[in-house]
Amino acid sequence: MTISDHFQPRELLILVAGAKGAIGSSLAAAVEALRTDPASVRPGLTTGELFTDILPLDAIRVAGWDPCDAPLNQCLLQHRILPEAVERRYGEALAKVPILCPEKTAEKIGGQVEKILGDIEGFQARWPESLPVMVNLLPAAAVPAPAETFNLGRLYADIRWEVFPDLAYAIAAIRAGIPLVNFTPNRVELPAVLDLAKEVGVPTAGRDGKTGQTYFKIVLAEALRVRGLYVDGWYSLNILGNEDGRNLMDPDRARGKLANKTDILDRVLGYPVGERYGRPTHQVRIEYYPPRGDAKEAWDVVDFLGIFDMPMSIRLNLQGRDSILAAPMVLDLARWLAVLGSLGRKGPVPELGFFFKHPVGDNPPERFSDQLAALERLKAEVTARLS
Ligand SMILES: NC(=O)c1ccc[n+]([C@@H]2O[C@H](COP(=O)([O-])OP(=O)(O)OC[C@H]3O[C@@H](n4cnc5c(N)ncnc54)[C@H](O)[C@@H]3O)[C@@H](O)[C@H]2O)c1
Repeated sequence: MTISDHFQPRELLILVAGAKGAIGSSLAAAVEALRTDPASVRPGLTTGELFTDILPLDAIRVAGWDPCDAPLNQCLLQHRILPEAVERRYGEALAKVPILCPEKTAEKIGGQVEKILGDIEGFQARWPESLPVMVNLLPAAAVPAPAETFNLGRLYADIRWEVFPDLAYAIAAIRAGIPLVNFTPNRVELPAVLDLAKEVGVPTAGRDGKTGQTYFKIVLAEALRVRGLYVDGWYSLNILGNEDGRNLMDPDRARGKLANKTDILDRVLGYPVGERYGRPTHQVRIEYYPPRGDAKEAWDVVDFLGIFDMPMSIRLNLQGRDSILAAPMVLDLARWLAVLGSLGRKGPVPELGFFFKHPVGDNPPERFSDQLAALERLKAEVTARLS
């Protein structure tokens, strides 16, 4: 008898904090498409061929929380992510996705954790056979920096829900024994939270999805590094016109995201870019530009030196789509954590660093080849345990 004989195929229940946002509504449409038109989504998943006997791709359900009043199908339209004809195909199904409205309150997160635990119980009572995973898709927050030594009790009492709601969803999920994906730049992985995950025995993955510009940046940085080409400067500009872009115009909210987008390059290259100038010359800018909606555009100017310090340069222009890039990654991560949770993995999973700008855990791989190798090792290990 093998481990997979113990696992009956289970429906995956993705509980989404921020379910009506650009990524959340795209995720719900992708889940519906996997049921009715799998060829439109499945090839875009990195887990499309994995775990299909225990987590079938056509048995995924979405539920969650969002304060937005409009039904999910309307939100998808408002975000201008998919052509109307495609949205219409899934509109009826999306309108039925159960999404609860969190209270607007100034209270501390302790009370909210209890409320969210009650909501989770309700979702689990409705679908008792399904395997839940929590995904954090809340807006980038101006997160206060709670001291590393804070214990859970202090977090409950000190942190205001309206300032850092992510923390309440994260703690509630872990207390309910539900794995957690943090796709946002918000630092929910505080020591007290990770200790709780280890104690309860659930895996976590985060933080800050590496979807577009930063993904291609670390691939290219590695190509330059292995050839001994010295990166002298790297200027990255982003324009985007979705809510995320608007939100990131607030410098306090953008701080975490900009740090995640910037710090990674020095770590990948192994030296501080700009050392010759006595100041960082890896410069990242994000501009909110409404005409673009979700169709984000990024430009990179990469200045590098060859032998005799001869300067050379690369121009990159990414014409991406934020949520079209992000939604399949969220699906992959939810499937990974559901399986790892079932296999008893607990605490942060650094092997999933491939998916993140700021991977959390012990010595997470930062270079692209190391991240791919770690992911392949994890695949081999899990596949062996399941076969
Ligand atoms: N799109 C990408 O490529 C990408 C990459 C990395 C990280 N991210 C991060 O992912 C997150 C989600 O991105 P998005 O584009 O979907 O953002 P969005 O602003 O479109 O969606 C956020 C949603 O959260 C809801 N919300 C706000 N407060 C809430 C609360 N207390 N409880 C429940 N819901 C609440 C909002 O109403 C909104 O619908 C952001 O933090 C973003 O920075 C996105």
